[in-house]
Amino acid sequence: MNIRLFKPSLGQEELDNIKDAFERAWIGLGPKVAEFENEWSKYIGVKNSIATNSATAALHLSLTAYGFKEGSKVLVPAITFASTATAILYNRLEPVFVDVDAKTISISIEDLEKKYTKNCVAVIPVHFGGQPVPMDGLMRFAKAKRLAVIEDCAHCAGGVYKGKKLGTWGNIGCFSFEEKKLMTTGDGGMICSDDEALVKPLKAYRWVGIDKDTWRRVKGYTDTGSKDSKHWYYEIAVLGYKYNMNDLAAAIGLAQLKKLDKMNTKRSYCIKRYMEGIKGLKNIQPLLPYNPDDYVYWIFGVRCAKRDDLIIYLKSRGIATGVHYMPLPLHPLFKPYNTKCPISKRIWQTFITLPLHADLTDKEIDYVIDALYDFDKKI
Ligand SMILES: Cc1ncc(COP(=O)(O)O)c(C=O)c1O
Repeated sequence: MNIRLFKPSLGQEELDNIKDAFERAWIGLGPKVAEFENEWSKYIGVKNSIATNSATAALHLSLTAYGFKEGSKVLVPAITFASTATAILYNRLEPVFVDVDAKTISISIEDLEKKYTKNCVAVIPVHFGGQPVPMDGLMRFAKAKRLAVIEDCAHCAGGVYKGKKLGTWGNIGCFSFEEKKLMTTGDGGMICSDDEALVKPLKAYRWVGIDKDTWRRVKGYTDTGSKDSKHWYYEIAVLGYKYNMNDLAAAIGLAQLKKLDKMNTKRSYCIKRYMEGIKGLKNIQPLLPYNPDDYVYWIFGVRCAKRDDLIIYLKSRGIATGVHYMPLPLHPLFKPYNTKCPISKRIWQTFITLPLHADLTDKEIDYVIDALYDFDKKI
């Protein structure tokens, strides 16, 4: 056996959509991106969606939208992927690391209240592994302190908390369609918001600062009846980036979006099978308080005091594992922003991520469970 940790679930529908883009011979920023943005807005239930080439870019631009004063502080959980915090540094702002809740591994509201100072301008809650941050409580706090809320939804596309889609609780939601995520475009991201005035300028920011899309103007280039010699004209008013999604990625995304709920249901089924299977283990516990009937999960993992031995053992059985994540303040880049996060710095040492993806078979899950039992008996 050789069991992958993550795997994109791709098929004929994605190929058909790519063929469509090929036949149109428009594979850069074009109509497929616009179509994907519209479909995504409908799916999530927001007024505006802007597609980018990654969630890293989406997070970067979401903070840029506010134009915060240089050096202002942004609260982030200590356990997350680097991009949640590099987005802050890209904007010349300062990350303030907040400890996580020991059970849910998402931002601790208690520590958030402690770490808040009047220089804080925003908070980026991360729905770690798909486990939703209690957004009702977080929004109450953020509103009282006038903090902007940018939800990092890289792990929870399609997830819902208390009847409301994740990504629609805060001012802006950012999604990732990187190849390992709940749905993919190869690489890609999405910025979502109901606040049009806030996010509309980001269309130029993602396109090198140009406020017009070439594909919308292209007909004017060869309009035989036109006396307009300025069809090419645009102005650059802001320092933008080359962060746009392209039509090839959007073509894949349109097919993946149609399957997202089904893929999430399949992952929930896998988690139920894992949870049932590992019930009797003595030295290995589930990573999160999994509730696959209500939430969508990107990560299925366990906690084990002998983490490194277990990783080596699973490797010897052909089972891929990962660790999500070493707390950011432990990375050299973020050391200058180190804060007291005792829970994060303790619990991460027990984390192991196990294989989870929409094509995982019962046989593979049972094989992983058997391996966990064999290890559990030995220690
Ligand atoms: C929590 C979190 N935020 C942001 C990102 C960045 O996503 P992308 O790879 O699309 O830039 C990731 C990627 O793994 C992530 O896990």
